[in-house]
Amino acid sequence: MGSCKFSTFSFLCLIIILIVVSGEESPQLVKDRISLLSFGSGIVLDPEGALESWNSSSTHVCLWTGVKCDDASDHVTQLDLSGLSLHGWISPVLANLSSLLVLDLSRNFFEGHIPAELGYLFRLRQLSLSWNLLGGNIPEELGFLHQLVYLDLGNNRLAGDIPAPLFCNGSSSLEYMDLSNNSLTGKIPLKNECELSALRFLLLWSNRLVGRVPRALSKSTNLKWLDLESNMLTGELPSEIVRKMPKLQFLYLSYNDFVSHDGNTNLEPFFASLVNSSDLQELELAGNNLRGEIPPIIGDLSVNFLQIHLDENLLYGSIPPHISNLVNLTLLNLSSNLLNGTIPLELCLMEKLERVYLSNNSLSGEIPAALANISHLGLLDLSKNKLTGPVPDSFANLSQLRRLLLHENQLSGTIPPSLGQGVNLEILDLSRNEISGIIPSEVAGTQGA
Ligand SMILES: *[C@@H]1O[C@H](CO)[C@@H](O)[C@H](O)[C@H]1NC(C)=O
Ligand SMILES: *[C@@H]1O[C@H](CO)[C@@H](O)[C@H](O)[C@H]1NC(C)=O
Ligand SMILES: *[C@@H]1O[C@H](CO)[C@@H](O)[C@H](O)[C@H]1NC(C)=O
Ligand SMILES: *[C@@H]1O[C@H](CO)[C@@H](O)[C@H](O)[C@H]1NC(C)=O
Ligand SMILES: *[C@@H]1O[C@H](CO)[C@@H](O)[C@H](O)[C@H]1NC(C)=O
Ligand SMILES: *[C@@H]1O[C@H](CO)[C@@H](O)[C@H](O)[C@H]1NC(C)=O
Ligand SMILES: *[C@@H]1O[C@H](CO)[C@@H](O)[C@H](O)[C@H]1NC(C)=O
Ligand SMILES: *[C@@H]1O[C@H](CO)[C@@H](O)[C@H](O)[C@H]1NC(C)=O
Ligand SMILES: *[C@@H]1O[C@H](CO)[C@@H](O)[C@H](O)[C@H]1NC(C)=O
Ligand SMILES: *[C@@H]1O[C@H](CO)[C@@H](O)[C@H](O)[C@H]1NC(C)=O
Ligand SMILES: *[C@@H]1O[C@H](CO)[C@@H](O)[C@H](O)[C@H]1NC(C)=O
Repeated sequence: MGSCKFSTFSFLCLIIILIVVSGEESPQLVKDRISLLSFGSGIVLDPEGALESWNSSSTHVCLWTGVKCDDASDHVTQLDLSGLSLHGWISPVLANLSSLLVLDLSRNFFEGHIPAELGYLFRLRQLSLSWNLLGGNIPEELGFLHQLVYLDLGNNRLAGDIPAPLFCNGSSSLEYMDLSNNSLTGKIPLKNECELSALRFLLLWSNRLVGRVPRALSKSTNLKWLDLESNMLTGELPSEIVRKMPKLQFLYLSYNDFVSHDGNTNLEPFFASLVNSSDLQELELAGNNLRGEIPPIIGDLSVNFLQIHLDENLLYGSIPPHISNLVNLTLLNLSSNLLNGTIPLELCLMEKLERVYLSNNSLSGEIPAALANISHLGLLDLSKNKLTGPVPDSFANLSQLRRLLLHENQLSGTIPPSLGQGVNLEILDLSRNEISGIIPSEVAGTQGA
């Protein structure tokens, strides 16, 4: 009863404890006690002694570590053993705790399979088994859990296809689904006749999922986080799907095999589909096969944008100056594309930028001195381009700058001595340019050059 703090209510708490401890356990509670003990016998190591209170003799079952009952103490309604470093396996006998609303065994060392019997805990609203060592398939029976709101099976060793009933069979109450960082295969099994209308978080990153983003996901109009990163998904960027998601905050599609529209030439339709998602903060599309120019409409996205990752694609043409409308952006990564033209002056209007990566493109012209107006700039990577001219003197004004990577360009002139004065550089790489002269003593502490 950790919730009974010393206060004017402590007397009340004491009475409740006395009632609970002295009271007879209801017949259902006696059954629940037997089920819990049987489940506990599957726990082979309890290094923190968390389950010492779990013995049949003295303590009322509703006072056992991790156990909570309903108000009348008639049923066990919660079992929360998260983060206790327990080793063992999950006994199917848990299915006998028929009034369970919350089952949280996350952040332990449970091995073996997820028992299919958990699918008979019909009242379950939260099932958290994340951060364990669970293997095998996700049992199809979990699709029977019609009251489920929160399902987290992430960071395990689960394999096989995602069972279709999980995404379909009556799971309309589901708001949070996390199956990330497993070895799940096959398609995302959301059929056209199904809908997850309450879904707000869908996290499937780091699996081996294939196929397209299912069209039926467009019925999940309340989605805030969609993270499909690091799979093997294909097809055009899902513009018709995200268009229906005005509440999106985080859209992560990096490291898949997505292409752009019109035969992988046109990114405009995708960006256009996001202009009404006014809460959008982060867009990650890195490491796909996206071809096309960066459309100027990128500047019409949400002003709340904080991060854009388009690195490791096949984007060509120049960087649209209109991107500078995203005045709250802190990170812009356009590295490893085929971008050419000059670095737009207008970047300096994005005053909150902290990290800018434009390396490994074909950018030419001089480095705009105006970049020194981005007062929070801490990292600027312009390496591996075709930039010419000097390193601007104005960079001495970038007092937050820690990493300045300019190597493998065609820069000339001398290293501005001013760089050492205001700036507190940790890394300055000017190698493989045509810069002459010696390293000013002010910057001699940094590497490169
Ligand atoms: C669990 O319920 C099943 C079926 O009702 C019963 O056969 C079994 O004995 C119960 N197990 C425990 C430990 O209560
Ligand atoms: C049984 O529970 C009580 C109360 O938590 C504890 O003091 C005692 O050590 C436990 N006994 C065993 C054998 O674990
Ligand atoms: C849906 O779940 C019910 C049990 O709740 C089951 O009888 C039915 O076969 C399931 N339907 C599908 C399509 O999985
Ligand atoms: C993915 O899961 C493994 C354990 O299976 C863990 O070591 C790793 O840190 C997880 N990755 C992330 C990014 O959380
Ligand atoms: C955005 O909203 C406007 C006004 O409600 C609407 O006309 C337009 O079609 C919407 N755009 C998209 C991509 O949904
Ligand atoms: C974004 O910028 C606008 C205009 O400068 C500002 O009013 C708003 O508070 C900013 N939003 C965030 C999330 O920083
Ligand atoms: C930016 O992109 C480059 C190239 O893909 C990558 O190496 C780097 O880690 C990225 N940085 C961030 C912060 O995303
Ligand atoms: C530079 O980009 C190309 C693709 O444009 C990529 O193949 C290469 O690995 C990148 N090099 C580095 C060092 O990131
Ligand atoms: C950039 O590349 C395109 C072809 O992708 C070319 O038509 C254009 O002239 C180039 N622009 C510059 C400034 O090099
Ligand atoms: C840079 O900042 C200075 C002073 O804040 C301002 O006068 C100048 O116009 C800015 N330059 C650009 C290109 O915005
Ligand atoms: C640094 O900023 C100050 C104030 O905005 C300005 O007067 C000065 O010219 C700048 N220095 C350089 C080298 O641009």
